[in-house]
Amino acid sequence: MDLPSHEPDPQRFRQVLGHFASGVTVITGMHEGEPAGFACQAFTALSIDPPLVLFCPAKASGTWPRIARVGELGVNILSAEQRDLARKFGVTAADKFDGVSWSSADNDAPIIDGVLAWATCTVETVHDAGDHFIVTARVTGFGDSRPGDPLLFYRGRFTLSATTDRDALPEVVDTLLAWPRYADWM
Ligand SMILES: Cc1cc2nc3c(=O)[nH]c(=O)nc-3n(C[C@H](O)[C@H](O)[C@H](O)COP(=O)(O)O)c2cc1C
Repeated sequence: MDLPSHEPDPQRFRQVLGHFASGVTVITGMHEGEPAGFACQAFTALSIDPPLVLFCPAKASGTWPRIARVGELGVNILSAEQRDLARKFGVTAADKFDGVSWSSADNDAPIIDGVLAWATCTVETVHDAGDHFIVTARVTGFGDSRPGDPLLFYRGRFTLSATTDRDALPEVVDTLLAWPRYADWM
């Protein structure tokens, strides 16, 4: 007998695929003298030789086209203490960098203080993929990494482990309250 399966409607898409846990990055760039950045969970190391990473910005993102125009970016891998930064960089806002301490990397990309690890990259390819782009970027440098726990994202929540949050409120409740554009993402 076939296993029962469900239509891949948007709500089920988020609910089912939110089980795939990940870290959280902030992809940054310097556009016309202004720092730009957006939280990005859809990130992975891709190739060692040549050194490539991959991430997926939504076509609806206002920040991505500004970073793409410059073609130079920073990947900031957030620590567990940086939930608030993930929230701040996870919504459309004019002032995402207000109150955020950061320094410029040698490609001008903003590197946020306190991140676990960071890399500078140059955009290599941008592929069309549904409501997102698939971007590959060549790593041009790594900063020093520091010890600490990573910020983890699982079923629409920030968490330290998948099991401890099992009895927490359904993810949609607090995220809808906290993130105006939550529905765009997970
Ligand atoms: C934890 C988390 C992970 C996210 N991951 C992604 C992602 O992988 N790709 C993406 O396009 N947006 C992602 N977002 C949403 C974007 O950060 C958000 O849409 C963007 O910052 C909106 O601002 P903008 O219009 O200036 O681009 C994520 C948000 C959060 C909070």
